[in-house]
Amino acid sequence: MRLLIVSNRLPVTVAEENGALVFNASSGGLVSGLSAYLDVQPDIEHLWLGWPGSGSFSDENRLREELRARYRAVPVLLDDATADSFYNGFCNNTIWPLFHYFPSLTVYDEAMWEIYKRVNAVFAGAIAAELRPDDVLWLHDYHLMLVPGLVRKKAPGLPIGFFLHIPFPSYENFRLLPRGWGRELLHGLLEADLIGFHTPDYTQYFFRCVLRILGLNHNLGVIALGHRLAKAETFPMGIDFDKYYDAVDSREVKKETASFRRQVGDLRVVFSVDRQDYSKGILNRLEGYELFLKNNPAWRHKVVLFMIIVPSRTEVDQYQKAREVINQTIGRINGDFGDLHWTPVVFQYKAISFEQLAALYNVSDAGLVTPLRDGMNLVAKEYVASQHEKRGVLILSEMAGAAMELGEALLINPNHREEIADAIKTALEMPPSEQARRVEAMQVRLRKYDVKKWAGDFLEELERFREEASRYGTTPLEGLPLERLRDCFASARNRIVFLDYDGTLVPFARTPGEAAPGRKVIRLFRAFSEAPNVTPVLISGRNREDLDRWYGRFGVTLVAEHGVWMKEPGSDWRMPRILNNKWKPVIRRMLERYRDLLPGSFIEEKAYSLAWHFRNSDPSVSGPRVKEFVDDLVQYTARNEIEVLMGHSVAEVKCSGVNKGMTARALLAASDYDFIMAAGDDETDEALFQAMPPEAFSIKIGSKKSFADYSLSSSAELVALLEELFDVQKGIIDSVIGLFRRKPNGARR
Ligand code: UDP
Ligand code: G6P
Repeated sequence: MRLLIVSNRLPVTVAEENGALVFNASSGGLVSGLSAYLDVQPDIEHLWLGWPGSGSFSDENRLREELRARYRAVPVLLDDATADSFYNGFCNNTIWPLFHYFPSLTVYDEAMWEIYKRVNAVFAGAIAAELRPDDVLWLHDYHLMLVPGLVRKKAPGLPIGFFLHIPFPSYENFRLLPRGWGRELLHGLLEADLIGFHTPDYTQYFFRCVLRILGLNHNLGVIALGHRLAKAETFPMGIDFDKYYDAVDSREVKKETASFRRQVGDLRVVFSVDRQDYSKGILNRLEGYELFLKNNPAWRHKVVLFMIIVPSRTEVDQYQKAREVINQTIGRINGDFGDLHWTPVVFQYKAISFEQLAALYNVSDAGLVTPLRDGMNLVAKEYVASQHEKRGVLILSEMAGAAMELGEALLINPNHREEIADAIKTALEMPPSEQARRVEAMQVRLRKYDVKKWAGDFLEELERFREEASRYGTTPLEGLPLERLRDCFASARNRIVFLDYDGTLVPFARTPGEAAPGRKVIRLFRAFSEAPNVTPVLISGRNREDLDRWYGRFGVTLVAEHGVWMKEPGSDWRMPRILNNKWKPVIRRMLERYRDLLPGSFIEEKAYSLAWHFRNSDPSVSGPRVKEFVDDLVQYTARNEIEVLMGHSVAEVKCSGVNKGMTARALLAASDYDFIMAAGDDETDEALFQAMPPEAFSIKIGSKKSFADYSLSSSAELVALLEELFDVQKGIIDSVIGLFRRKPNGARR
């Protein structure tokens, strides 16, 4: 296997200076995380595709050669105007602010969106040009959300993983994107096999957007797309723990540490480092520190705030403005509180080396990390990992993804500068034993979930899930498989046949009451009851009354309400599991509200479920209403033992844990069958298919992908097959002959 990593930015940013190529390490968590992973897994064969940065290159071949030889990297080249509209435009003026909850900074520009699509196509083309059959493609971040879909078209069988390094926003924020853009972005992402997010919240928000915008629900993280499956899951990114923990032992780090110690003397150090980005809350941090100095005169002249600000996206207007305000604020604090002997804020507007960073993490008494919103924030983790002597206090914004894992930090809301000020004081006055307790607890977690584990978990899950998804697909039931089915049926001694009703044995009617069986189906059931060594099971979502009225007189097993009720020939209805209905009044009221909002829809009440039918409603209105309903229901399903089943134009709320699969398993266990067949048409039948043993013939009616092995295109085809298997024609002829034999004089009744 070769790992093809693709991100907008390469691990090195390249510039041409006086004809020579200059390579500088790129900044940001994506690059530092992935580079750390490749460092600790040097044996992984990989290639990294990405943009080498703005600027033109006089000799592109040399650039390609050097990048490949020195960094196993391939440049995706964009002309400056395109790169500008893509990177400074749609990426950092639309997606970045919107996904970080800055809607007021978000620009919606059709031309930028067009360029975003174009550049994603350029990336897909570059990937296609490099692809090898043994490649696994791992795409990264918000710049490339359409790439999974574009590559899938070129290489349908390729394993594709996608990881989003920034927050995925709530539906309320995501929906601010023009509808077409949002749909395309979600569709693009869903063409990856596995989509990873840093926190469970981002994953949930993604599911919610997929449901509300595309109408697709998920089942344990898996989304069925008709033609294939995709999965979304949480993988919190880790760091190379040992690298930071052991850094104190290195000679260079020791040297840097000693030099910083000399510089700060007796002062206590509060340290921060981040890219200069409005999402990082640098201004809030400064104002919090200012308030701390104001409220705590005793601490003046005893503390210094060391800030490393790494220049970032300097072409974007908002970044330039933010920089000016930061400069002014630092000037004000130093002017108001400082004097010739003491500078309260010392800062550098430039990246630093790893050794300096490790030394600063180590020298400081507190790490101050205050993003207003951050996908993960690796700095927070690095700060904790660096505390070899188990001292140092992390002050961390609860808006950072990392806060989920670093609960022992002093968590603050960065919008509240009083909290920042108080946390600085608490940190500086915290007893060493308390510091150690907190650091140790966090270090245990960070050591376990390091960057190797993050990437390993992601790639393993990608492989495992693809294997699982490959079993999701049907073969038309014709030719050899059909012959095999006929032969097995003919030679079997003990057969069981599970049949769903609506959409499987009979086509859909306008209302449930109208779908009464016709002559053909009645004849079929008569043949079932007369055939030896067959257990026919009618397994339906219908209520008991319908099934009894239509099929009670035949010797078939009836299963009603998706498995709530079961009736074997000659016995009464029974409930295989005790269920309760306490949830019904609340859900009924809720459903009635939705029904009133959707003309043409109606509610059907069954003993242990409520079904909302919308077959007769305008699909353009029912689509969004149903998505809202399912979304609304989530808050109830978590606390009550209920779930929603989506059938053909019906959403059914029922007790969870009861389904056709469970019932089928129980029936299969009751005897030793040598011919097993199951046929169904909608979502509710998937549980039935999943319960089938490998030797069974599972048949999906319709063209959708399914867990069934085979498909037939209509219920008429299934009925024809059953007629053939059960020799219905012969039965008709026999009964006609019998009729004439009984009446030798030819008299007709
Ligand atoms: N970093 C760096 N050089 C510096 C300062 C920081 O490489 O001069 C690294 C830092 O160690 C961290 C990354 O940049 O690994 C920043 O990642 P984070 O997730 O905190 O924020 P992002 O920049 O991705 O938003
Ligand atoms: C964040 C993003 C990365 C990006 C990095 C640096 O970490 O998630 O995708 O590379 O910031 O930003 P830049 O715009 O310089 O690539």
